[in-house]
Amino acid sequence: MNIIQTDLLCVGAGLAGERVAIEAADNGFSVICLSIVPARRSHSSAAQGGMQAALGNSAMGEGDSPDVHFADTVKGSDWGCDQEVARLFVDAAPVAMRQMAFWGVPWNRVVPGEQTYYKGGKPFTAFEKPENEGLIHSRNFGGTAKWRTCYTSDGTGHCVLYTLDNRAAQMGVSVVDKVEAIALIHDGAVCMGAIARCLKTGELTAYLARATLVATGGFGRIYRESTNAVICDGGGLITALDTGVVPLGNMEAVQFHPTGIVPTDILVTEGCRGDGGTLLDKNEYRFMPDYEPEKAELASRDVVSRRMTEHMRKGLGVPSPYGDHLWLDIRHLGEHHIRTKLREVDEICQSFLGVDPVHQLIPVRPTQHYSMAGVRTNSDGAAYGLKGLFSAGEAACWDMHGFNRLGGTSLAETVVAGMHVGGTVVEFLSGTETTFKTECMRDAYRKQEDRIKALIHGSNGRENVYGVRNAMFDTIMKGAGIFRNGTDLQESVDKLTEILARARKVGLKSNGLGANQELSLALKIEGQVKLAQCVCFAALNRTESRGAHTREDFPERNDRDWLNRTLATWAKPDDVVPTLNYEPATKVFEIPPGERGYGGGKIIPLEPAPEATPKNKKA
Ligand code: FUM
Repeated sequence: MNIIQTDLLCVGAGLAGERVAIEAADNGFSVICLSIVPARRSHSSAAQGGMQAALGNSAMGEGDSPDVHFADTVKGSDWGCDQEVARLFVDAAPVAMRQMAFWGVPWNRVVPGEQTYYKGGKPFTAFEKPENEGLIHSRNFGGTAKWRTCYTSDGTGHCVLYTLDNRAAQMGVSVVDKVEAIALIHDGAVCMGAIARCLKTGELTAYLARATLVATGGFGRIYRESTNAVICDGGGLITALDTGVVPLGNMEAVQFHPTGIVPTDILVTEGCRGDGGTLLDKNEYRFMPDYEPEKAELASRDVVSRRMTEHMRKGLGVPSPYGDHLWLDIRHLGEHHIRTKLREVDEICQSFLGVDPVHQLIPVRPTQHYSMAGVRTNSDGAAYGLKGLFSAGEAACWDMHGFNRLGGTSLAETVVAGMHVGGTVVEFLSGTETTFKTECMRDAYRKQEDRIKALIHGSNGRENVYGVRNAMFDTIMKGAGIFRNGTDLQESVDKLTEILARARKVGLKSNGLGANQELSLALKIEGQVKLAQCVCFAALNRTESRGAHTREDFPERNDRDWLNRTLATWAKPDDVVPTLNYEPATKVFEIPPGERGYGGGKIIPLEPAPEATPKNKKA
């Protein structure tokens, strides 16, 4: 048996994983990051538009502050977030942006003087102050009162990831790529690392760690259509759910981004609309102001995705062999702007669609994009259920996003949470003795060996893994898309129960132990179906509409009964649905529940209305 020991094991080497790793390494601890792909190909690199932080350097960001940012975040979450965490995030975000600059991120900067910007397709001029010359600039994004999204053209994730990866290398963090963690080592109370599989040789290794971090990103790839890379398959969440004691938070909270391109579902950034792009229907009519007069294309993502879907349901989508879509129009922004500040969008449109966005419309429709759900942690990033287990980034439900994340806060969360959780991990490592229980490690290792043998030899059955995955795709999309209802959700839960039985009988056609995609998928298909079941079952049980969770049969946001967070555990491996528990969404109410100011809808109030708790009061 291969055994490697370290202080901190980061499962995932994207931005959240590497940021936590840097903090621990900087404090003298040994750190290993495991990654399915080379770190620089982590999905963080695909984030385009930017990172929100209230720097207030630019003309359109003037008057911004962490308080304004806080209000936007809470409203964006539809009051589903933990307000203590949202406060922590908005206060630390400006620090994190400046730290990224210091480490080498080439932010776009303020150019003084009169500048032409666009809003809702129309140009206007704003005066950038000479004293702000060279400070970090910001662009507009959805659901925000100020322009606050710091950016490096539309390659923000790419730039920040390369910078952090350099920093991690400087700090001596060891990144082991083409390796996948497939199970956590634990005794039901303490996490002691993970069993990982080499994706080239198939060899298993037990990584014993005093602290383990799950930072594997989202689970978009349990949906057929997603902006997520194929590596965003829920792997880390599956290992947490498999423990039977670690709950996943708000699994029903799944985000659809308004502008995935059709038919490939690749993201084109919200920065297109932030910079003044508009959405048009089949008559090339700009429809969003009719639905959302105030914010139009720049309401929050859940609202824009719903309105687009509503509009297409009225027969106003553009028919195509791949289904109806709408148009994104950025032509008026001009060639210089598109080829520089939206250069990835330009390249994506040219390479994947054969469309030149300087002259042509871009076919788009709402596409699965982000998981507000994840491994439930406390405000310090410690997972519920197992001591020594932590989580950060999209893999975690920390929970600053509640039921809708604002654009530009995913990347920002990775570095802010990474900085904060990194601090917690350092404290934990400094003050905790760990006893590694070798029998736990051996059991976990053997269990994985046995699973692999059973798949190769077909001892559980001969179900085709791709057939099972296709059935899962069809089912989750039908039940847990943008609009949901009890009938479809119940049907999805029943179907997923059957699909889960099939997933437990998968056998391989191939027999390679090493680079074998069929084996990799087979090892996680049961877990993926369980994740899909968590989404559908939690959505079925939440009889209200909040943020991205829209129940057509329960259209009101119901603060009286549902101002809470879902916790889903898979108590026994053979269960067919998760066990659901609930906890209050937030213990502090810096901003008591109210109207978001966009999106409309009836609210059933919490009574008596909670009093506002003072800023910075800890729960
Ligand atoms: O649209 C975008 O650039 C995506 C950003 C995000 O998801 O935060």
